[in-house]
Amino acid sequence: MGKLTEPEAQYIQSTWGSLNKKAVTAQALARVFEVYPWTTRLFSKLGGKFSAGDDGVQAHADKVLQALDKAVQNINKMDNILGDLSETHQQIGVDTQNFKLLGQTFIVEFAREFKVGFTPAAHKATYKFFRQVANGLSCRYH
Ligand code: HEM
Repeated sequence: MGKLTEPEAQYIQSTWGSLNKKAVTAQALARVFEVYPWTTRLFSKLGGKFSAGDDGVQAHADKVLQALDKAVQNINKMDNILGDLSETHQQIGVDTQNFKLLGQTFIVEFAREFKVGFTPAAHKATYKFFRQVANGLSCRYH
């Protein structure tokens, strides 16, 4: 299980395009902060406000979703796209395990959004995509 197949890539591209990206990204962030509270460690700029509707989370969601836009356009070429951002996260001191956790909370948000439409095959494509994102964000760690 590595690269996304063509149908999987198409699923991600059309799905991501159809979502309210800002809302879904803010919800995935709020969920990761709630479920895995240590993920808030480096977010002092959020001033203890970690709900999806909070201004800081909304603003951060904008940055994350723009990076995800690029990732969606470059499925299977993630290291090229996310290399610089990997370096940034390493410098900030983010543990790479956290990238996987955010992938999981995005999957939950997809499930909430698409309900029965979020089939095992859709889940698999989404998991593979966010695993590639996590790998891309980890690629310049040393
Ligand atoms: C889908 C995965 C992720 C993406 C696409 C992403 C993207 C970004 C982007 C675009 C920035 C702004 C970088 C800049 O201003 O130059 C950023 C900053 C940051 N990210 Fe991530 N990120 C992801 C996951 C995570 C996770 C899981 C954590 C930790 C739990 C994290 C922690 C941070 C921190 C602490 C900052 C700096 C915030 C600040 O003080 O401005 N990121 N991220």
